[in-house]
Amino acid sequence: MKTLPVSTFSAPKGTYDLLPPDSAAFLAVREALAAPLRGAGYGYVETPGFEHVELFSRGVGESTDIVTKEMYTLTTKGGTRLALRPEGTASVLRAALQASLHRAGSLPVKLWYSGTYYRYERPQAGRYRHFSQIGAEAIGTEDPALDAELIILAADAYRSLGLTGVRLLLNSLGDRECRPAYRAALQEFLRGLDLDEDTRARIEINPLRVLDDKRESVRRQLAGAPAMSDHLCQACKEYHEQVRDLISGAGVAFTDDERLVRGLDYYTRTTFEFVHDGLGSQSAVGGGGRYDGLSEMLGGPALPSVGWAVGVDRTLLALRAEGVVQDLPSPTDVFAVPLGDEARRELFAMVTALRRAGVAADFAYGGRGVKSAMKSANRSGARYAVVAGDRDLAEGVVQVKDLGSGEQSPVPLTAVVDDLRRRLA
Ligand code: HAM
Repeated sequence: MKTLPVSTFSAPKGTYDLLPPDSAAFLAVREALAAPLRGAGYGYVETPGFEHVELFSRGVGESTDIVTKEMYTLTTKGGTRLALRPEGTASVLRAALQASLHRAGSLPVKLWYSGTYYRYERPQAGRYRHFSQIGAEAIGTEDPALDAELIILAADAYRSLGLTGVRLLLNSLGDRECRPAYRAALQEFLRGLDLDEDTRARIEINPLRVLDDKRESVRRQLAGAPAMSDHLCQACKEYHEQVRDLISGAGVAFTDDERLVRGLDYYTRTTFEFVHDGLGSQSAVGGGGRYDGLSEMLGGPALPSVGWAVGVDRTLLALRAEGVVQDLPSPTDVFAVPLGDEARRELFAMVTALRRAGVAADFAYGGRGVKSAMKSANRSGARYAVVAGDRDLAEGVVQVKDLGSGEQSPVPLTAVVDDLRRRLA
């Protein structure tokens, strides 16, 4: 007999569904990454999943891969060109500017966010077309302590998850004072190399990105490239020194990486990336930096800012690569198994009362037999099953079974909620 497919549809290439039980690990990672931000004065911000295309082409950069190759764009029936957000910084800054948050209170405006982002990239392990980030942006203040704060918060978040293999790479890209001279020097050097047409075009548009080329043939030729650190102006040098001192002072180790330019055009001064060596080629678990000119690029006032985004999916992969076992709360503490109609009523009421008392409880729905209901109880991960039939109820009791030890004892129905709360405390 021909079997019918479960469904004609499957998720689009490069996307994934988050399903239990794995989704619990995902939520725990997201929570662990967000918790330090909440504890450092960052307020939650949520922006739309799509924005005007120009926000990203202007914000992220006309010449970046993200804008030229990876954006999902669409034209609405009204003729508006929109793009699914490929990243969060431009959207968050747009939202802050639109609401004049920078005028409403003291600076910096500190915001954190959590969401899914979309990039039409070639899917591979750790690289998806739909992925999840936790991000933080501190808008409107130029202060090395702010750059340091963000870096330390991310490092602490990774540590709180139990990750030990996350390395921090740090660089400064200079500012509008010193970057032009460096850019010119780099262009001159690059023009003398043996490079393909695309890369030669990149030299003219964004030569710093050539430093990021991963191909061995290019990397070899880049060995003698001029270094940004030799071209930093005094102000950028001092700024970077202070960032380095502050993060060292907090016990966060880092490696200076001259080649770290990042794939988005808005960065100035501090740039950083957190990498994990257990992830293969998609090793960046998070990254960010300062973007002092972005607000003006979007038509706003000068608002020097800094931020980062951490990939939730890759952080989860890093945990798996290190074999870290997450301490996940059980989804269910108590599972109720009623035998008969009266027990159904009583135990349903008990489950409701347990939930209202803060105990995670579930119920054997569907009026199945005791064997199948007990199987559900075991599968649920609950520590206790509460079983009751007519005879128990006639005696005013229910049976509380410890699903770990198998021990079972009668408990008065009127006392069972308190009894279970005590046992679970
Ligand atoms: P990004 O480096 O493009 O930066 O992305 C941040 C993190 O998101 C990466 O380190 C990686 O973990 C994750 N990620 C990026 N693309 C993918 C993908 N295709 N699949 C899975 N994970 C991915 C930004 O997005 C900037 N907005 C960060 C920032 C905030 N800079 C300043 N403020």
